[in-house]
Amino acid sequence: MASLDRHARPLGSLRVSVTDRCNLRCSYCLPEGSQVWLPKTEIATLEELASLVRAMTLVGTSRVRITGGEPLLRRNLPTLVGELAGIPAIQDLSMTSNAVLLPDLARPLRSAGLGRLTISIDTLQASRYALNTRRDSHAELLAGILAAEEAGFTPLKLNTVVLRGMNDDELAAILRFAKERGHQARFIEYMDVGGALDWDPKLVVPQAEILQRLESDYGPIEALASGDRAPANLFALPDGTVFGIIASVTAPFCGACDRARLTADGKLFTCLYAADGLDLLTPLRAGAALEEVAALVDNRWRNRDDQGAQDRLAVPTRGPSAQARELRAKPHLGMHTKGG
Ligand code: GTP
Ligand code: 5AD
Ligand code: SF4
Repeated sequence: MASLDRHARPLGSLRVSVTDRCNLRCSYCLPEGSQVWLPKTEIATLEELASLVRAMTLVGTSRVRITGGEPLLRRNLPTLVGELAGIPAIQDLSMTSNAVLLPDLARPLRSAGLGRLTISIDTLQASRYALNTRRDSHAELLAGILAAEEAGFTPLKLNTVVLRGMNDDELAAILRFAKERGHQARFIEYMDVGGALDWDPKLVVPQAEILQRLESDYGPIEALASGDRAPANLFALPDGTVFGIIASVTAPFCGACDRARLTADGKLFTCLYAADGLDLLTPLRAGAALEEVAALVDNRWRNRDDQGAQDRLAVPTRGPSAQARELRAKPHLGMHTKGG
């Protein structure tokens, strides 16, 4: 039985960032001059990460999502996936990727036991992609989606962070792209986390506006009942196509949040907005048994009071949650470190 935090939320899901490195530089996550990488010597080995995940399952974790940075940059990733897929307590093993390296890795990941895959696609336009990511790999992204389909990951979830003036004129087109390929589009409100140094409320396209825009293209949209812990609100087009909106800015889901995060250097964070993590790697390296690591996690979880996105709603003049100099001093503030 999972322990409960101070708001009676159980620990259910864990996001494991296997590397803080990324092969893209998305404007909302890794803007120029903001990133400081974790020192290589502090990165946990794959064996250590697997042990930490195993310890987390002793206190209730049953769903694991592998993230980054870009997880596919981590060498021998299928070995970790195979290891995690073999842990009976893990009922759902998924990954979030930018897909650029999937042409080579989709099949090995599937064979190793990866269950579900979510791919980030913010635009269908190569030139816009290059501007937003400062990398010229839109063709690889599309090839990555194809490789994921061929490896059997259908239906995929396709994540789009919506930024006013960047891609908000593409919502209907992205939804059509997803629908035609049998995938689920999810539109994400631009959040004021970590590296979002240019965040401004004016750049957020709220869920209500996303729906309005899609209705003008597709007709009346029906709200569906959503799963209790999933952050996406689900909707259906008149033809039955289901899509999601993650409204972390205008309608945070902190009240139902059962997520913990493990960073590539083995720190446990209990909120996306948390400034500090609990170091689990040092005790593990010092020889702590998995039960002892689990007891540390349990204690941390019982004291968990976080509701970062909810708290941000109360900030009167809202801007970025961190400045460049703070991010450079504390790389764990970045979403690329904490796991997207
Ligand atoms: P599944 O339910 O496992 O399919 O995945 P998910 O819905 O958790 O979604 P995913 O990992 O694709 O995350 C989608 C987006 O939700 C992220 O890019 C964030 O913008 C937002 N998000 C993810 N985790 C958190 C979180 O812990 N807190 C908040 N406030 N937002 C989050
Ligand atoms: N707002 C919303 N989502 C973000 N991500 C990263 N930064 C932000 C942000 N500021 C998420 C996106 C992206 C994934 C890697 O992390 O879903 O696709
Ligand atoms: Fe959970 Fe923190 Fe995100 Fe709220 S802001 S949903 S508490 S991770």
